[in-house]
Amino acid sequence: MSDTRTVVGQKNFNQWPIENSTRLPAISGVVLAVLLYPFVLTQFHRAVGSGAEIPTGYEVISGVFWLAAAFACPALCLLCAIRLAAGQIVTTTARRALRLAYFGVTAPTAYTFLGVVLYMSGSPISDKWVWSAAWLLLAAWTAAAPKGVILPQHRASRMPDGLRIAHAVAATIISVYVLFHIVNHLLGLLGPEAHTAMMKLGRGVYRARLVQPFLVALFLFQVGSGLALAWRWSGGTAPPFRVFQVASGLYLSIFILGHMNSVFIFARTYLKIDTGWAFATGAPTGLIHDSWNIRLLPHYWLGVFFVLSHLASGLRVVLSAHGLAEMAAARVWTAGLVVSALIATGIIAGMCGIRI
Ligand code: HEM
Repeated sequence: MSDTRTVVGQKNFNQWPIENSTRLPAISGVVLAVLLYPFVLTQFHRAVGSGAEIPTGYEVISGVFWLAAAFACPALCLLCAIRLAAGQIVTTTARRALRLAYFGVTAPTAYTFLGVVLYMSGSPISDKWVWSAAWLLLAAWTAAAPKGVILPQHRASRMPDGLRIAHAVAATIISVYVLFHIVNHLLGLLGPEAHTAMMKLGRGVYRARLVQPFLVALFLFQVGSGLALAWRWSGGTAPPFRVFQVASGLYLSIFILGHMNSVFIFARTYLKIDTGWAFATGAPTGLIHDSWNIRLLPHYWLGVFFVLSHLASGLRVVLSAHGLAEMAAARVWTAGLVVSALIATGIIAGMCGIRI
């Protein structure tokens, strides 16, 4: 595959020099945002309380503020990744800083995964402190990059075509399950009964003896191949669209591992409970008013948003490769992002009790 196809729209970005004066605030911003993330969720919980009483106007405004702040954390990391990837990545420090920013985007799902693992392991140390220690170590790893090492020019054309094609083919098969799953969750807007009825129908297929292992294997392949591709792409200069594609893929890799851990290991094996509506919505307290469950809100919203927008990103690459004008492909992609955000919002609204 030629460079012009693989690095769509990249031409002008290679020339942007990124000075240390830009990189340092970007790294500091990423580290600060991820370190604050759990504390922002706690502030949200303080603002909205346990839901026993009707919230005052102040509580609603303050809840909206803290929830927006929680979403601002991955958004800020994405912006930093876009800024850093716009410059030349010629030193180890630059490459590590960029990868740190990419990883910051995964904070909502990584924090949920960590919480489940610590709960199952009976850890006496709070999630927040393990989280902070892990991120401080990552920040130290970035800062300790060997100075003065000049890296060979990163070339997107080194991506093995076979891996990219296999990733795209697996994505197409997986999409059938994902789209069913997403429509299933959207039915929550009609009520738990509608959601459960559709899920029962679906379980007859995706839980079938031969289907489920195949589906799980495909998801694991997607995670592995996605991480391999993300590792390569995240090492060099990239246009904003490509940064979004890599960041959303990275988020999904962690989301899928964490989600399958929650469903198969935590719920079905450890708690021995059904993974239906009550499990998904954190019943009986729900997503909003429980100090632990609130982390599921950004985790799920971004999971749905990124899986759909990641597919839209793949579509944009295919359309460009088949000769569609860059502007038209970008419009299709932007429309995909808007629709993904609307669907994610609809699902979360249904899970939080809103009905149509
Ligand atoms: C609001 C978002 C989501 C919620 C609340 C959610 C919840 C659930 C629940 C409750 C199950 C168990 C289903 C059952 O018992 O039949 C499940 C299974 C699963 N979900 Fe999700 N999910 C969400 C989004 C996603 C996304 C975006 C993906 C893919 C990227 C995904 C991948 C899976 C997979 C692979 C399984 C296992 C299917 C099986 O049992 O074989 N989920 N999810």
